[in-house]
Amino acid sequence: MTTCFEGTTFCIHTFGCQMNKHDSERVAGMLEGLGALPVATIEEADIVVFMTCCVREAADTRLYGQVASMKNIPVREGSPLDKRYIAVGGCIGQRDGEKLVQQLPHLDVVFGTHNLASLPALLSGAIERSGHAVEVLDGGADFSSALPTTREHAWAAWLPITVGCNNFCSYCIVPYVRGREKSRPLEDIAEEARRYVEAGVKEITLLGQNVNSYGRDLYGEPRFAEVLDALDATGVERLRFATSHPKDLTDEVIERFGTLRSLMPALHLPVQSGSDRILSAMNRRYTREHYLGLIKKLRAVVPDIALSTDIIVGFPGETEEDFMETYRLVEEVGYSQVFTFIYSKREGTPAAKLQDDTPREVIQERFDRLVDLVQRKAYEANQGERGATVPVLIEGTSKRDGSILAGKSPKNQTVHGPLPAGLTAEELVGTIVPMHIDEARTWYLSGTVVDG
Ligand code: 5AD
Ligand code: SF4
Repeated sequence: MTTCFEGTTFCIHTFGCQMNKHDSERVAGMLEGLGALPVATIEEADIVVFMTCCVREAADTRLYGQVASMKNIPVREGSPLDKRYIAVGGCIGQRDGEKLVQQLPHLDVVFGTHNLASLPALLSGAIERSGHAVEVLDGGADFSSALPTTREHAWAAWLPITVGCNNFCSYCIVPYVRGREKSRPLEDIAEEARRYVEAGVKEITLLGQNVNSYGRDLYGEPRFAEVLDALDATGVERLRFATSHPKDLTDEVIERFGTLRSLMPALHLPVQSGSDRILSAMNRRYTREHYLGLIKKLRAVVPDIALSTDIIVGFPGETEEDFMETYRLVEEVGYSQVFTFIYSKREGTPAAKLQDDTPREVIQERFDRLVDLVQRKAYEANQGERGATVPVLIEGTSKRDGSILAGKSPKNQTVHGPLPAGLTAEELVGTIVPMHIDEARTWYLSGTVVDG
């Protein structure tokens, strides 16, 4: 089974969330383990894997377009294979299965969110029999932790603690493509974390659609605070997690921001809307008041915690007054970052059946107004950092200038600064260095490395 990958090259195109990025690292780990070589572009690759997302329509359409446009690309010169092989996995693979090969006959392999580990066998099947190989399961081996991983960065690791989602927010396709929530045993999580720390990982990000409900299926009650305790005890320097549902964020977890050495002062807490009427139609199961109460508690523990959120503009039936409730909430909270989305109708979700007659231009105008506010508030939030000295985890150099270091502050802000004399970027990558913040812009801070 392994032989057909020797001497081949592959590239992975990943769309969507961190869970997909993590799954891509597992795919890379498997293919490299079988003798395939990673390359950066489709042109150089014999095997192209798409890890897909169907949360919004735009990414969905783009995937179909991109695969369609690959129909006639000639085989790479020197390729040991007879043609270029294309595999589609992730959420669109899970949702569309056979339909993908019917619409895109030159597609070779389709796999879903539950059978990542089958990809090598599906690919070798397609290569050896030169036919399609489609496998989508309803559930199954959900934690790919036993699979090899090629991590994007040696100093950072993503660690899934739950997969799937039980929340059924009315607009969201995720519970239909990722399945019901399943938690991974606490001992397995701690064991994987310990291995990472021993291997030199500085930052671990716990992943799950709703990490706060971790453990409910396994232990009958949420035990996320205990996961945080166990991770802190591994000695990891930086601990983060995503994503949290406001209805499940407990006082216990909030307290951990004050007590755990490694837990970074930053939290992503998606609000989606500031209007109770819309929150109820979205089936979010909390109110604006509850959400603002959480923010208050968090700030009582960590006064300058960096908060980020997701907001959907233009949910069916959203009025100007509903939108203004969201606008005022953003003004009041003062987020460091807001991911703003225009509502996208997803077939099969309850919201797809709602009457949706707000004109497109009205929604776009609201969206633009919100984006302006978000930028202003992000700029304001960053000003507080000027003059401070913060520990920065160096990730590399600026995309535009190789002599400018780029890294992340504890609050997850991007920090840029000149490479100190006598040092190379390679020496600093993956280390945490103190930087004095000289300038604060909307999306990044500028600083200077100071002697620790
Ligand atoms: N339309 C627009 N945005 C959506 N999201 C999820 N589903 C939809 C949709 N149908 C957004 C939510 C979620 C983020 C990951 O994507 O804000 O938090
Ligand atoms: Fe989707 Fe809601 Fe689950 Fe998040 S919590 S994945 S928005 S259903």
